[in-house]
Amino acid sequence: MTEHLLDQITMGPLIIVREKMMALQASGKKVYRLEAGDTSFDTPPHIRKAITDALESGKTHYPVLTGIPPLREAMLTKVRTQNHLPIRDAENVMVTVGGMQGLYITFGAMLSPGDQVILPDPVWGETPELIRRTGAVPVLVKLHAESDFSFEAADIETAITPRTKAVYLNSPHNPVGVMLSEAQLRAIADVAIKHNLFVVSDEAYETVLFDGNKHISIGSLPGMGDRTISVFSFSKTYAMTGLRMGYAVTNDDVLLDRMRKLIRLTTGGVSSIVQWGGVAAMTGPQTATQEMTAEMQRRRDIFYNGVKSIPAFESFKPQGAFYVWAKISDKWNGYQGKKDGWAMTNFLIDRAGIGASPGVAFGENENYLRFAFTGEAEMLAESVQVMQDLF
Ligand SMILES: Cc1ncc(COP(=O)(O)O)c(C=O)c1O
Repeated sequence: MTEHLLDQITMGPLIIVREKMMALQASGKKVYRLEAGDTSFDTPPHIRKAITDALESGKTHYPVLTGIPPLREAMLTKVRTQNHLPIRDAENVMVTVGGMQGLYITFGAMLSPGDQVILPDPVWGETPELIRRTGAVPVLVKLHAESDFSFEAADIETAITPRTKAVYLNSPHNPVGVMLSEAQLRAIADVAIKHNLFVVSDEAYETVLFDGNKHISIGSLPGMGDRTISVFSFSKTYAMTGLRMGYAVTNDDVLLDRMRKLIRLTTGGVSSIVQWGGVAAMTGPQTATQEMTAEMQRRRDIFYNGVKSIPAFESFKPQGAFYVWAKISDKWNGYQGKKDGWAMTNFLIDRAGIGASPGVAFGENENYLRFAFTGEAEMLAESVQVMQDLF
């Protein structure tokens, strides 16, 4: 068979780790799942009830392609009042199968083969693959520990070529947990305006913020409303990872039309009953989200404070999202003759049943590791203890 674009895309390192961890767990070994971006929280009861009520009352027919009207209205209100996005109408809101499909249709609608998108490195590993899938090229711009992993407008500008179409932002950021300040966002906005670029703003972690940090959507800044495609998710905000729902908003009519076509030709819309759960999530009390965020900060403190005392790592304190990005120290002796992220990942799994993600899952980061503090606090504390004994 002739070469296909998809042959260049692998299933990625995270799947390898997950499968190893599941096999260990199935064999009865004690494991510490620090590799998964999925919290231990269940979907809040009022959302679950809205879904079962929708099922029981027969709301099981084809939904409107881009989402049921009450949900899109709720999303429009939310993005206008909370994100301060100047989105024109509910027609500009598309309900998607997770933030993942939001990004898929955004890049699919925007990119042609040979186009380029500038991304931070490290970056959530799926994003460059979504870009490659269109035949376009992800252009990685290195974030440096010395400058607190900030995504600098000047570095973005240097990476721009005549083929650059967009810049991808993700604040709070997976895997480092950094957030872009208003000044940084303004500087990036200025570059996007000057070079006439789109900005794809992945706001999957908009509510997972620590230490009183406030989330700012770049699309709310002057001159950005019409060039930003903002992508959101219910996964982290409402603990709905398995229910697969997100949304994308854009004022750009050309993109909107193409994105709708991609929904039509991929999923034909999102599960009708999950959308009714979405209405309850968005219009109901937000206390569950606030409680989950507070609990995530507690887990961050337990895990980060523990792991930073381990000399094998130099850990970075996250301001949001639920990951600790750690550099593997030169002082570590290594495993099976190697000292990189894969060696450390295998060492932690083999020696202690601890799952983590090697840095190469997030770009060119051979000597890094990502820990997810998504599990229960007791498990996290115990995993730290185990690592402290190991090194
Ligand atoms: C940075 C980032 N963007 C988007 C997503 C998409 O999540 P979902 O498809 O579950 O909404 C994730 C999930 O982990 C993520 O980490």
